[in-house]
Amino acid sequence: MKIPFEVQYREKYYRLLDEVFESNYLSEGKMVKRFEEEFGKFIDIPCLAVTNGGTTLLSIFEYIGVQSKDVIVPANTFWATAVAAKRAGANIIYADCNKEDLCLSLDDLKKRITINTKVVVVVHIGGHIAFEIEEITKFCKERDIFLVEDCAHVHGGYWNGKTGGAWGFAGSYSFYATKTMPLGEGGIVCSNDKKFLEWLQYYRNYGKKVENGKVNYKIQNGFNFRMNEMTAALGLVQLERLPAILEWKRKLASKYDQFFEKRVKFPKGMTSGYYKYIVFDYDLKAETGKVFNQTDFGPEIEKIEYDLPNSRWIAEHHKCPPIYYGWDYAEKNIEELRSILLK
Ligand SMILES: Cc1ncc(COP(=O)(O)O)c(C=O)c1O
Repeated sequence: MKIPFEVQYREKYYRLLDEVFESNYLSEGKMVKRFEEEFGKFIDIPCLAVTNGGTTLLSIFEYIGVQSKDVIVPANTFWATAVAAKRAGANIIYADCNKEDLCLSLDDLKKRITINTKVVVVVHIGGHIAFEIEEITKFCKERDIFLVEDCAHVHGGYWNGKTGGAWGFAGSYSFYATKTMPLGEGGIVCSNDKKFLEWLQYYRNYGKKVENGKVNYKIQNGFNFRMNEMTAALGLVQLERLPAILEWKRKLASKYDQFFEKRVKFPKGMTSGYYKYIVFDYDLKAETGKVFNQTDFGPEIEKIEYDLPNSRWIAEHHKCPPIYYGWDYAEKNIEELRSILLK
């Protein structure tokens, strides 16, 4: 299959690229700011763009300061979530997930908390908001623990009108090539904490910020996590395409709902962005990647030590029929889809 990128959107992108070239700024120009503003309006939270969804997380952990502190990470997530905290000097504590939403379990979180816990990370797996987000937020607030939301999967997912990043101290979006809103590479940090966003403007730019033509240096540990102008231009176009992509995915999901009875079922008030469509115990003829593979821990070898019954169950039992934008068979009717997917 070909990755779809419709002609009218290509033309929009080329026009924005012309604007970039005309401006003479390939980096640190106006396009990144425009993208940040537009994405910020979309999720209703102030945003700053960086290079990818790993550096978003690293920036958040470095600002909070997690050196030798415990960061609780759900076991059922891509390794990026944990390794970002590790790079910032944290001890990783894995917590189990719920079978219902595949996201962090409040019950298990309660068992992992110690006086050394500084951060809890929720990952909104698969495109929906973690079902227990309200309770987890309350739990963290009562204990002065930072809640961080990994929103790499959640573009277009809502819980009662609020989307990823609305509950925690900060949220981290990825725009990697396979995500619902792909830019190839890219990330956005969202937060309502003004001091953090001010710090991040320095941190992502080697500790400096240019204001009124003058370079100010503020922080010591800054590095280059800048998004470039061409990526931001693509971001503006992809943001415009996103509603159509979400509609396409939701239409396919509503067909799948007709014949996949054993699936993640959403409570009233939840809308998924359908990064993945998640089913249990089906033998599928076509599927896309799982999240947590319990036979190959790779660098996460320490996970073996943990008691994670639900995450292990999820790894063994869940599968994801294709729901990536442009999948060749999406327009087929329900009966045809059933026979394409089920053995
Ligand atoms: C849950 C999760 N967090 C973080 C990342 C990292 O994002 P990036 O690839 O943009 O660094 C990904 C995927 O790539 C992810 O799936």
